[in-house]
Amino acid sequence: MLEVNHLQAGYDYLQVLWDVSLSVQPGEFVALIGPNGAGKTTTLRAIAGLIAPQAGTIAFEGRSIGGWPAHHIHRLGISFITEDLNLFEGMSVGDNLYLGAYSHRDSRHIRARLQMVYELFPILAERKRQLAGTLSGGERRMLAIGRGLMSQPKLLMIDEPSLGLAPKAVRSVFAALEALHRQGATILLVEQNVNQTLSLADRGYVMEHGRVALQGASAELLQHEYLKDTYLGAR
Ligand SMILES: Nc1ncnc2c1ncn2[C@@H]1O[C@H](COP(=O)(O)OP(=O)(O)O)[C@@H](O)[C@H]1O
Ligand SMILES: [Mg+2]
Repeated sequence: MLEVNHLQAGYDYLQVLWDVSLSVQPGEFVALIGPNGAGKTTTLRAIAGLIAPQAGTIAFEGRSIGGWPAHHIHRLGISFITEDLNLFEGMSVGDNLYLGAYSHRDSRHIRARLQMVYELFPILAERKRQLAGTLSGGERRMLAIGRGLMSQPKLLMIDEPSLGLAPKAVRSVFAALEALHRQGATILLVEQNVNQTLSLADRGYVMEHGRVALQGASAELLQHEYLKDTYLGAR
């Protein structure tokens, strides 16, 4: 579904990504992990069309999308849930969700999506008339993910959904991702929470200094000495 090959990208004169190759198959849950500053967010930004690749290719469903504008890539079915969430604080939870479906006009379709999001996150249904700005940290993450789902994306890219959340909220966010995966969603997840992420994901890529340093099935990565030493605190 998604095929990134030898991607190089960055900001102005700062090159951040030197050689990133990764792929996501339909229905797969793929994790992108690695230390702060490794280039994980930059990779997602390049795929979403928020920055242009300097070299390398990005293909989605066989189409080369490198350098396409973000709205165009979104329309192809890639939803990107950023760390900063971009919620409309002064609007209700329900209206934030409606806005996520902006590319759909069929109101029956929108209602069905809304129903699906409320089933995944019952707390959002409870709070649908509440202003987004009044939600807790965990609820805000859920709202951002729910809004990303409203456009019925083929690929869901999520950047660090557990960032800054209390353990209980982290568990609910991860439980929702697991449920989504079980329902067949295709997910590319960036996380610092390595252990928890790899226990849900099918496969993982470990990035370092703008390159993919390690990749493999989650079970293999969890057993990898390097990861154990660096992230998992074993030994
Ligand atoms: N908007 C930006 N402008 C300039 N440099 C940036 C910008 N965003 C990130 N960087 C730099 O790019 C590098 C990789 O950042 P990022 O992709 O956010 O890493 P990660 O998500 O893995 O923590 C870092 O050195 C960071 O300082
Ligand atoms: Mg990041």
